[in-house]
Amino acid sequence: MGRDVFFITTPIYYANDVPHIGHAYTEVASDFIARYRRLRGDDVRYLTGTDEHGLKVARAAEENGVTPREWTDSLEPRWREVWQRLDISYDDYIRTTEPRHYEAVAKILQAVHDNGRDDIYGGTYEGLYCVACEAYYTEDDLIEGNCPIHGRPVEQMREQNYFFRLSAYADRLLEHYTANPSAIEPEARRNEVLSLIEGGLQDFSISRTTFDWGVPIPWDPEHVTYVWFDALTNYITAAGYANDPERFAREWPANIHLIGKDIVRFHAVYWPAMLMAAGLEPPTQVWAHGYLLVGGEKMSKTKLTGIHPFDLIDHFGTDSYRYYFMREISFGQDGNFSWESMTERHNADLANGLGNLASRVLAMLANNFDGAVPEPVTPGAEGDLPTVIDDALRRYDAHMIAVQLQPALVAVWDIVARANHYLVEKEPWKLAKDPASRDELSSVLYASAETLRVLAVAVAPIMPRAAQALWAQLGIDEPLDAQRLPAAGVWGGLAVGTKTTKGDSLFPRLEA
Ligand code: MSP
Repeated sequence: MGRDVFFITTPIYYANDVPHIGHAYTEVASDFIARYRRLRGDDVRYLTGTDEHGLKVARAAEENGVTPREWTDSLEPRWREVWQRLDISYDDYIRTTEPRHYEAVAKILQAVHDNGRDDIYGGTYEGLYCVACEAYYTEDDLIEGNCPIHGRPVEQMREQNYFFRLSAYADRLLEHYTANPSAIEPEARRNEVLSLIEGGLQDFSISRTTFDWGVPIPWDPEHVTYVWFDALTNYITAAGYANDPERFAREWPANIHLIGKDIVRFHAVYWPAMLMAAGLEPPTQVWAHGYLLVGGEKMSKTKLTGIHPFDLIDHFGTDSYRYYFMREISFGQDGNFSWESMTERHNADLANGLGNLASRVLAMLANNFDGAVPEPVTPGAEGDLPTVIDDALRRYDAHMIAVQLQPALVAVWDIVARANHYLVEKEPWKLAKDPASRDELSSVLYASAETLRVLAVAVAPIMPRAAQALWAQLGIDEPLDAQRLPAAGVWGGLAVGTKTTKGDSLFPRLEA
């Protein structure tokens, strides 16, 4: 089941929130993985979307004098425009307000309800409720009587709810994670999940009657589905659970749910238990990254530390943005954003690194060979470049499969560093002055251009624009999209005579 397709998902984002670079961190990481998987020939399906129900949305709509649906219709483009500028290549975008999702939520609820084990039951819920979180808190959770996240007063609420019998699933969840340790990564998150389960699981409430902006509970439509049975179900909605059994058989279980560590409990405890209760397979892997910090603090909408992605894209450009967050922070750990470190990375790795390599090689080709790729006539002139490339691409692949995104990029930039060093060693600018060194010059520039070809392919998943620009400058006929790894990494792929052009520099230097 589900093995034909590489199905990767990100969380669906709360439509009512304003996008910030923390959200974009999850999305860029997934896009990097999805593009890499396509490059190695996998049949990828990449899903994202927006989470559009709940009391908070209903109240905001009311305050703005529109219906909840009109309200989310007006908000959802704020998310898509960010993904568009970040070159996010999702294959499907789900809104929880779509009919296909209503069908899937009703279907999973009914399946759990009817599973013969009484896994959904009615009860009374009473507690202190934060509207902004859409969550109940205990007295102990509160900070000076206020919501620990929003710092605002909570409300006493009491209502009839349906509950999901999560407590019955502890053993099966432990078995699942013992048999499949990589089902939750990285290790710190696995340990956290195991101790959550071992600490005892409590049933959770899955419906509300205090508002009606949500998916009705199929057997009792006075209730609407509350948060997690609605939100998490998006993943199977998109895989065709309610309306496309053939697709569902190909795509489910998802290969990776990529999430931030704040929602581990829901993805790695609630969700597999919900699926088991409905007779469905749990996801193959939940991969939880760390927080992006600004000035040492988690960004949040209420603390005014939220930075909109456009603020950075306008200055650094899309490729530099994508590269920075994946290269700077060890994926899985918390990491700090700063304007200074972003400028440094841009200048060191992109302007001086890859950009300078490309512009030097293309300029020498233009000046000495009228842009045409010369023949590699001197045996061995390429030195160790082929083996360096081979080794780096192997490491790149292993790291990408393991979702070690930072070392994956380090591996690719080993090629950049080696190629720049190669130029320093071979000094083609000196060879160019001596007609007797013409053969060696040809050979050195062939090797350098060939390395650029491989680099254009290798960086395409992280910097699609620069890769395309470099590819165009190299003048290679076949489209970049048609390249596959590892085949495209084999030395000698660049045809002699290919007409290169010296174009604009890939990454202009930025002032500190
Ligand atoms: N709607 C729920 C998810 C439902 S999934 C079935 C939700 N949405 S969210 O918009 O609050 O968060 C979406 C993603 O953004 C999560 O992966 C979250 O971890 C990520 N981030 C939000 N702020 C973040 C940081 N400051 N740093 C890193 N990622 C963070 O939760």
